[in-house]
Amino acid sequence: MDRDVTRSAYGLSALSISQRRPARIEEYETLARDVLPRYVFEYIASGADPGVSLTANTQCFALVVLVPRVMRPVAHVDTSVCIGPGHAQDGRKDKVESIGLSDPFFVAPFGLHRMAHPAGELATAAACAAQNVPLGCSQHSTVSLRKVATAVPALRKFFQLYVLREARLTQALVDSAIEMNCEAIIITVDSPVFGFRSVDTENGLNALPNGMHYENYESEVFQKIFGQSGKGIDDNIEAIFEPKLEWSHVRDVVRLCEKSGRRLQVMVKGILHEEDAVLAAQAGASVVYISNHGGRQFGSAPAALSVVSTCRRALDLNEFQNVSVVLDGGIRSGDDILKAVAAGADAVGLGRIILWALAADGADGVQHVIEMLRAEIRRGMQLLGCRSLQELREARMLRLADIDIQGNGAPRSSKL
Ligand SMILES: Cc1cc2nc3c(=O)[nH]c(=O)nc-3n(C[C@H](O)[C@H](O)[C@H](O)COP(=O)(O)O)c2cc1C
Repeated sequence: MDRDVTRSAYGLSALSISQRRPARIEEYETLARDVLPRYVFEYIASGADPGVSLTANTQCFALVVLVPRVMRPVAHVDTSVCIGPGHAQDGRKDKVESIGLSDPFFVAPFGLHRMAHPAGELATAAACAAQNVPLGCSQHSTVSLRKVATAVPALRKFFQLYVLREARLTQALVDSAIEMNCEAIIITVDSPVFGFRSVDTENGLNALPNGMHYENYESEVFQKIFGQSGKGIDDNIEAIFEPKLEWSHVRDVVRLCEKSGRRLQVMVKGILHEEDAVLAAQAGASVVYISNHGGRQFGSAPAALSVVSTCRRALDLNEFQNVSVVLDGGIRSGDDILKAVAAGADAVGLGRIILWALAADGADGVQHVIEMLRAEIRRGMQLLGCRSLQELREARMLRLADIDIQGNGAPRSSKL
């Protein structure tokens, strides 16, 4: 680790070294590898042992294709989407505000942006605000939600919450998200304990790097319990988590949001089983967020893409048509986003794809990746013959393993 920490390039833009903007999104990962200390790169890149979930995330996208339709008027395509029931004509429309997105993505919540870039969350926030893309602000950010909201007032924010043992601390975090005008609370429910990444142990990464802490734990209510500036928590974060998570915790957050009169949405993140999708909706979630945490929790979990259609169907069958479904995990291109939508997602969260750009070129890198994704989505829809995300949902998806090279592939009965 020592050798890597001393790399003088840490914190500089990788682009100042290469002097050109990447033509392909995936180049940002290579640039990030060049600029980050090895232990930081591996902290971000790795998944929980044995790494099956992590691999499945990207493999799953590589294993499916979409079948283009031709001769359709695609000069103009509409890539916008509304998440949540606020837009639906179901009598609940005044309860929460729907979240309008010009493209079907937002930035997923991930902690510790300052490990990727010295400006941390402030740089990501500046890029997201400039592009009008909501940012998932992690409870474990290295710049507090309050500071981010104050420094970048135009930012659209979702606050990601871990339920804590002390109910009043959880409530303080929700209150602050409401006060900071977040559009949604994302409750992450896949972390009763932390997944194990052996690579971090090998690299000696067992505490936050010097000068960084979880700034959301510095507020007064945390200080009262954990002492000056709440920093004592930094090295023992797991101990403050609620290990006995129940659906009542989701209901509590929904109630707090409703009571505030602010009409925020509640997303439940970390769902992989269709029965949990329905239970989340029954607990009051307006969005089911399918995710295996970027492969960082249970190491042998399925990829979100592989379970999204089952979850969507279960919600529909249980009359939760107005509950939206989003997913993350393994999104590395605009085509991946098209596949996620075709499989049943309303939108996706961008994870490491953003962290690599942040590491390589700060806010400029993040903006560039967002612009490239937008262009890829538009071009992809035109090439698929889809004018809207609704049409994209009807696109035919094939698993590569199913492709019949004898030419006898299904379906053979199409009649026009
Ligand atoms: C370095 C890192 C930190 C993360 N921190 C959080 C977090 O604080 N809260 C959370 O709900 N998810 C967290 N995640 C998971 C992301 O929200 C998201 O599920 C994942 O990154 C998506 O997979 P992808 O990076 O392969 O696209 C983190 C992921 C990474 C890579």
